[in-house]
Amino acid sequence: IERTFIAVKLDGVQRGLVSEIIGRFERKGYKLVAIKSVVPSRPIAEAHYGDLRARPFFKGLVDYMTSGRAPVIAMVWEGPDVIRQGRRIIGATNPMDAQPGSIRGDFTLTVGRNIIHGSDSFESATFEIGLWFDPEEVYNWRFTNEEWVVSQN
Ligand code: GTP
Ligand code: MG
Repeated sequence: IERTFIAVKLDGVQRGLVSEIIGRFERKGYKLVAIKSVVPSRPIAEAHYGDLRARPFFKGLVDYMTSGRAPVIAMVWEGPDVIRQGRRIIGATNPMDAQPGSIRGDFTLTVGRNIIHGSDSFESATFEIGLWFDPEEVYNWRFTNEEWVVSQN
């Protein structure tokens, strides 16, 4: 099994797109194994975007994420190839490059308001899940209808 960290950022929450975003992952067949509403602390936001520390927009991005103008909806989703497929469901970073049919392609116009985050690799998924969630907040459960969603061959 594979897991990824997905977060609806505050712009997505303010725009009322939480259920739309959750619905797209849910309908695809992925399993929600953790979810919480949170205003991240500065250390968590800085660590989350650590790879962007040298970029000119870094401070503004961290200020924005920690502003408390709305919470972030942090989630862990599980299922086959969910890291890579999650990125496809989300679409390109820049909304002008995001395909129609993707979340960013359908709902966003600018990179600073692209409403959602998704881990970009196994390493970042592992790091981000551990950063945002305590182990006991991630719950293992079984789909009772799994045989109708995932075949064994
Ligand atoms: P995430 O899933 O959010 O990590 O996006 P990404 O992996 O598609 O892009 P990346 O990790 O490079 O950037 C993380 C976030 O920083 C983006 O989602 C944007 O919100 C923000 N960001 C990236 N590039 C820019 C930029 O040029 N200007 C501004 N204002 N924000 C940016
Ligand atoms: Mg990224």
